[in-house]
Amino acid sequence: MTDDSRYRLAAPGLAEAAAGDLASWENDELAGFLARRPESRDEYRTGSGLPVERVYTPAHVDGDWHDVGLPGRYPFTRGPYPTMYRGRTWTMRQIAGFGQAEETNERFRYLIAQGQTGLSIDFDMPTLMGLDSDDAMSLGEVGREGVAIDTLPDMEALFDDIDLEQISVSMTINPSAWILLAMYVAVAEERGYDLDKLSGTIQNDILKEYVAQKEWIFPVEPSMRIVRDTIGYCAENMARYNPVNISGYHISEAGANAQQEIAFTMAITKAYVADALATGLDVDAFAPRLSFFFVSQADLFEEVAKFRAVRRFYARMMKETFGAKDPASMRLRFHAQTAAATLTKPQPMNNIVRTALQALSAVLGGAQSLHTNGLDEAYTIPSEQAMKIALRTQQIIADETGVASVIDPLGGSYYVERLTDRLEEGIADYFTKIEELGGVVAAIEQGFFQREISDSAYEFARRKASGDRPVIGVNKHVDAGGAEKIETHELDPESEARQISRLKQVRDVRDPERAKSAMEQLLSVAADPSANLMPATIEAVKAHLSMGEITGALRDVFGTYTETPVF
Ligand code: 3HC
Ligand code: 5AD
Repeated sequence: MTDDSRYRLAAPGLAEAAAGDLASWENDELAGFLARRPESRDEYRTGSGLPVERVYTPAHVDGDWHDVGLPGRYPFTRGPYPTMYRGRTWTMRQIAGFGQAEETNERFRYLIAQGQTGLSIDFDMPTLMGLDSDDAMSLGEVGREGVAIDTLPDMEALFDDIDLEQISVSMTINPSAWILLAMYVAVAEERGYDLDKLSGTIQNDILKEYVAQKEWIFPVEPSMRIVRDTIGYCAENMARYNPVNISGYHISEAGANAQQEIAFTMAITKAYVADALATGLDVDAFAPRLSFFFVSQADLFEEVAKFRAVRRFYARMMKETFGAKDPASMRLRFHAQTAAATLTKPQPMNNIVRTALQALSAVLGGAQSLHTNGLDEAYTIPSEQAMKIALRTQQIIADETGVASVIDPLGGSYYVERLTDRLEEGIADYFTKIEELGGVVAAIEQGFFQREISDSAYEFARRKASGDRPVIGVNKHVDAGGAEKIETHELDPESEARQISRLKQVRDVRDPERAKSAMEQLLSVAADPSANLMPATIEAVKAHLSMGEITGALRDVFGTYTETPVF
């Protein structure tokens, strides 16, 4: 941690006294005890591999007394808002998405009826990749792992009977995000909503696609332009909308550890901010609406420290590197999702417990919004029952445990503070390496992130395989008998054909003149990098051009991307 004296008060002598106590305790109580009863391991580490001490004392936090600050105040270590969950419980935002829009709409309404307070949509692979349902590449994938959206009528059906001024909606969508945002705006305008009242998020984090998730359409440059255009459009037209949800989650799921997750996410953030500033936007005009997404992994204390560390790092970066003046530009707000990669096929009920503990770390770490995974995660997309239990898990944490009554209750814990400092320092170390490689885009091109992530993934797999990292039900306490049976989500086999026929029908009945002129306008705007793509895309979707038609035409203007392989 830096020696920024504004966040640290001196209490002379405390660290020395604690160090003295520690030394005498090690000599007396500890040494004698250890001689009779050795510990179970030679060394102890956090989930990310940081070595941990036996016990933490004031001697372990740099300086004599650690001033942890206050919530809602720079550097926001303790939370972005001064009242946190006392004023408003985090948003309970379970993901839904499968089949046709109508099927997902029904799941939304079920979840809202169960007390869910935000929506989160997952799209099928064709939609994620900007393809139409009738594309040859889409066959067998339509509505399989998310909802299928081709044209505006699908989007209208998705939000049927849901008041978009009353609930915030997150859409997990990246290279084709701007088209779905355009459809969202089109639905809102049709229904007469005030765009400034709409609260929601598109993921729209294209850099992490090149780093981790690998879903892209266009090369980096035009993809960054699209992100910039959505940021610019929202800054002007949608006061409460979050145009990007910069995501560590997928970096983690690709195998990164906690340190890498936050470091790479901050490096990507720096690139977006620098890019937006380069076009002349004022930092305080868009930064308050940048938003984040992290995993909530298994190591409870390290995760809490991770959330605190990244909040503090971000605050300092926005203020010191980018000159933000508005505190809202410095406060990091994030969504958390429990870690899908930790959930197991054997003994699936254990997943409920894992998820509850991971959710607890998100809440202790001050998350604004949370998805808890289904117990059936390792089998398929979640059933209604699995989502209900996952939602109830959040509700139990919120209403029964008392953890939401006090802000940042682990603040001041010597251990958590020490870890927070370490993780914040680790981001700065990675920043130095990335700068040396020439920045984020250059580091992507050289396979830096990809290599770092695969090294961590390998190390973690090795620890699991050797049993050094226990996974209950998998490498420890394994059931001898057959697998426990659980009910899983069944896909409707007719859904794909229905979706394709609706798409054809929309194409047949739309006004061909309007579609043609919308396409021409879109292409001409796309060819001018200084123009904003959003207005022409909104008109394109209103003219019922499909997702695949739009991305197909733009591929000719923007080109496509091929990754340099990493060995
Ligand atoms: N008192 C009073 N008001 C408060 C308050 C308090 N204590 N705390 C918050 N509020 C207010 C806020 O000011 C805000 O009002 P505003 O919009 O007018 O400013 C409102 O309540 C909502 O609060 P937040 O913005 O904190 O919470 P949201 O839930 O609306 O937003 C977010 C959270 C992180 C900023 C947003 O970006 C978000 O919800 N993201 C979700 C992303 C998501 O769900 N992603 C899923 C991805 S799944 C995936 O990728 C996996 C796979 O499919 C590959
Ligand atoms: N419905 C619900 N959850 C989903 N996820 C992905 N697709 C869906 C869906 N259609 C969640 C799972 C997965 C993570 C990446 O996102 O938890 O592991």
